Amino acid sequence: MATHGISPELIGRDAELAALLSAAEATRSGSSTVLLAGEAGVGKTRLLSAFTDTLPKPHRVLLGHCVELSSQGLAYAPITAMLRQVISDIGVPKLTTLLGENSVSELAHILPELGESPRNSNSETAHARFFQTVLTLIERLAQQEPVVLVCEDAHWADASSRDLLGFLIRSLRTSPVLIVISYRSDELHRTHPLRAMLAELTRLDQVTSVNVPRLARAEVAEQLQGILGQFPDLTVLDMVFSRSEGIPLFVEALAEAGEDCLPRSLSDHVTLRVEQLGEDTQQMLRVAAAGGIRVGHPLLRAVTETSDIALEESLRPAIRANLLIADSRGYTFRHALIREAIHDDLLPAEYARLHKRYAEVIDADQRLVPPGRAAIEIAQHWYAADDRTWAMISAWEAAEVAERALAYSEALQLCERVLELWDNAPEAVERLNIDHVNVLERAAAAARISGRHERGLKFIKSALSELDEATEPERVALLLKELAYFQGVTGRPGSLETLRRAEKLASEPTAARAKVLEAFATYLFLTGIDVAEGRRHSTEAARLVKETGQTELATDVAISAAMITNLEGRLTAGREALKQIYEHAIRDDQPRVALRTLVNLTDMLNSLGESREALRLIDDGIASARRQGRYSDFGRMLELNRVEALSALGRWDEASTAIDEALTNESTNYRRGLLLTQRAHIALGRGEIDNARRAIDGVHRALSGPDLKMQEYVPSALLPILLSLGQEQGLQAYEQAQATLAEPALPLHTYHAWPLLLAAKAACAAAEPQQDTTSLRAKIAEMAASLQSQPDEPDPMSRAYLHMLDDEYEKAAELWKAGERPFMRATALLAGARLAAERSDRDGVIRQLRVAHHIAQQLGAVPLVIQAEGLARRTGVSLGPETSHMAAGSSSSGLTPREAEVLRLVAQGRTNKEIASELFISTKTASVHVSNILAKLGVTSRGEAAAHFRASS
Ligand SMILES: Nc1ncnc2c1ncn2[C@@H]1O[C@H](COP(=O)(O)OP(=O)(O)OP(=O)(O)O)[C@@H](O)[C@H]1O
Ligand SMILES: [Mg+2]
Repeated sequence: MATHGISPELIGRDAELAALLSAAEATRSGSSTVLLAGEAGVGKTRLLSAFTDTLPKPHRVLLGHCVELSSQGLAYAPITAMLRQVISDIGVPKLTTLLGENSVSELAHILPELGESPRNSNSETAHARFFQTVLTLIERLAQQEPVVLVCEDAHWADASSRDLLGFLIRSLRTSPVLIVISYRSDELHRTHPLRAMLAELTRLDQVTSVNVPRLARAEVAEQLQGILGQFPDLTVLDMVFSRSEGIPLFVEALAEAGEDCLPRSLSDHVTLRVEQLGEDTQQMLRVAAAGGIRVGHPLLRAVTETSDIALEESLRPAIRANLLIADSRGYTFRHALIREAIHDDLLPAEYARLHKRYAEVIDADQRLVPPGRAAIEIAQHWYAADDRTWAMISAWEAAEVAERALAYSEALQLCERVLELWDNAPEAVERLNIDHVNVLERAAAAARISGRHERGLKFIKSALSELDEATEPERVALLLKELAYFQGVTGRPGSLETLRRAEKLASEPTAARAKVLEAFATYLFLTGIDVAEGRRHSTEAARLVKETGQTELATDVAISAAMITNLEGRLTAGREALKQIYEHAIRDDQPRVALRTLVNLTDMLNSLGESREALRLIDDGIASARRQGRYSDFGRMLELNRVEALSALGRWDEASTAIDEALTNESTNYRRGLLLTQRAHIALGRGEIDNARRAIDGVHRALSGPDLKMQEYVPSALLPILLSLGQEQGLQAYEQAQATLAEPALPLHTYHAWPLLLAAKAACAAAEPQQDTTSLRAKIAEMAASLQSQPDEPDPMSRAYLHMLDDEYEKAAELWKAGERPFMRATALLAGARLAAERSDRDGVIRQLRVAHHIAQQLGAVPLVIQAEGLARRTGVSLGPETSHMAAGSSSSGLTPREAEVLRLVAQGRTNKEIASELFISTKTASVHVSNILAKLGVTSRGEAAAHFRASS
């Protein structure tokens, strides 16, 4: 793996940052202390550096590290470092002015560079004077600007440093000083000297404790993305998450090391700790490690054939050393990597012997492991025991168990194991009586469902290489159908040719041909390559299905037929068909088909302006996808439709949160592209040009396959035009629009094209009068006419687009209102008001502009607000009393509307966390807004900002 080592972005940590920032804020009324706890490598140092970087106003940050006593034995190590930093910051002369000559020499006790330390006093008073001098120095520094003292790694603090820190914490009463003490919680054994100190400190009012937890899976995904420069493959993510258990340091080491080896430094770290235990205990730990990260007491007893008491006795030291955690039922290694290091330490023969023993013991009494786990555990142990025959037999059986339990990722792993063992376990092959292609097919199916597309592709390709299409044409055709699917989702070329080959091979009128035709039809209409040919295949598939009596396939065929109906422009009819299919699928208890229908139906509902109804169905659908183990494919499609619904409904904050969440676990390019598309639309709507540009770059990276589907093609062409418009680069927008609409190969004959036509029209308006736009306008009109030449009455959203193109903005606005699309409605009304102004229709301006402005404000659609306010000024129309606030706030102080909103909440005394939850943003974003506000207002605290707000409103 190519890596950049560490993630440049800080992952997560919103709550911890907020706690630190609020402790810093609290020093306005006197010193405060934060005790920062966390395991080794969990990210204490990283958090602290992010914290000192985000402090909203200047602070003097003094940093001192404690060093491991055994190596250095330095008294006052962290304090010395802090004082040296002061000297280098302000210089000795200034230090002398601050403290006076005599006191400076007190510091010479630990800083020889300051000269002779006073010698003639007894050591006790010298000690007291030294403490007092440090205190005075910090107080005087704090009179100039607030001070943050960071003492890192206090589990290694020497006694003198501990004493001095304790003294400072108690004595620094009113000064604006924040002391942060970080320590490794996992190093504090029962008699550790820091323990007593922490216990005392926590009783003080000004002391708070902050714990830095491990990262969640989605956060590990983000960290890996930062390290690798791209979203990790799900297999890598699974591996890294399960082995690191969310410790960022281990995530980095594993990203670096790749799949198979434990990074050296980590295993040394653990081995050292284990070697300090008695031989008995070490041996028992090794046996336990062979059992897995967690092993039940009865299982361990059965494997070792010892008594309860002997077992407990030998493990107790390991529990005390914090390597193992015991509960009433068994033992868990405190960290996966601890278990792994111990396990790796087993000698090869011992290793095989132990695993064999585990396999046999569990096989003899399956109740020794949790229900449903026996098959899989046995398979793991036979594999580790290197008994190939049994490893393979048990893996194949376990794969079946996993499939039945809907554990597709596990099933995939087990199938891979069978493939791996295949050549070396002839006896097993014979006993199982399966063929190799069969295993590959099964592995590919599990890979498809669990979203492991790259691997799916590999399996299908090898399966194809082993079959002869002359003897097994149908089997090959079905594999080709799968190949086309994997080619599509992994962004590889060739799906169309693959499907054509499959269709030719499956020439007999069978269920297999129906399946191939169904997939082919879906492909043809989704890409828009040939809707008519898609219709033909779908009709033939429907007939075959009837003849061969395949009910489940019949529903799939019906779904494709309904989708083609939509693409022919008959959206209402298509939706009705899908609704019926959905009801039947539920009635006939076909949960997979019901889900597939729902994915398409909710997409249709969004296109029809029925997003609220879509949202209602999506929640049920996601729950059902989870129940069926189909979250990775159908569930994620539904999440995407949810984002689109929220975005259309103008619920942008909720949509943004949903986008962030979905992206952290999404490695499929086309879904990433569509999620980023929504992010770009929201950013454009809000006038956040930089965010929009970043999102659009992401869209183009993700959606650049050889055969884009229409729903992917349109955004990748539409967004750059909108971006140019947002930057008021009319001519550029015009050129982009012209180039896009002139592209002959583009599938622009379906309802997906409406927004593109509208953007092209806006680009024409923006380019005039420098540019003669007659021909592009004619082209737009021609395409619009072809889009509405359908037999059915156009659906309301298509009618709304048509009205927009025909300058009938009030009619359009009514339809957008009914379809609950506030952004489109505000856009229509603003355009309507502009037109009314050109026609000197003052009533028309007032009627439309006020509503447009109001909606735009509610949405936070800054560009629309600004345009509305500009038009109001030019036409002398008042926007009403409640609406002038945002303009006043933003023009007088340069705050954006969003910042004005945050400021209002700050003035109400809300914390960043409360602001974040009110505005549906992250705490980190809230804190960034607050610091920007402070900077723009030229104030240094929230209190002053609040005063500013009250004075100006
Ligand atoms: N939230 C985070 N986002 C991204 N990277 C992180 C995060 N937290 C930690 N890391 C990375 O993980 C590694 C370990 O973090 P760090 O050194 O801060 O841990 P620590 O808790 O201070 O460990 P120690 O107890 O050894 O001092 C660092 O390289 C850091 O950059
Ligand atoms: Mg650290």
